[in-house]
Amino acid sequence: MALIYWMPKYNTGIEIIDQQHRLLADLVNELQKNQENGNDRQKSIKIINKIQMYAASHFAREEHLFDVHGYPDMDDHLQEHDYFEDMLVQFEDAFKAGRQDLNDSTLDFFSDWLINHINGSDQEYVPFLKGKGVS
Ligand SMILES: [Fe+2]
Repeated sequence: MALIYWMPKYNTGIEIIDQQHRLLADLVNELQKNQENGNDRQKSIKIINKIQMYAASHFAREEHLFDVHGYPDMDDHLQEHDYFEDMLVQFEDAFKAGRQDLNDSTLDFFSDWLINHINGSDQEYVPFLKGKGVS
């Protein structure tokens, strides 16, 4: 299973957003490495909780920028954030209850969602926010 390799095209050019995106990618990589190194369950839960915490604060940051500047696609974008947060909570519950495992397919889901979002919907707001002077 592939770790996330950061590529220049993932950058938005908005410094705080890029720092937060890198941090989230690092955490997903940490989860993948933990799985490869024996899948310590307690450690996995700790990393999942960290991803939840940093995702929530990062999404709030983006949503604040959308709100302040009146980003027209805000509602659709927020739905994507809500979906990811829901998936993290559902996975955490299922993992703790032993109904779902941390494996290649669940890890791929998290890394694919993150990269598709960063490289898709997030890139779409860049011209708008930059046009409003956000840097
Ligand atoms: Fe986003």
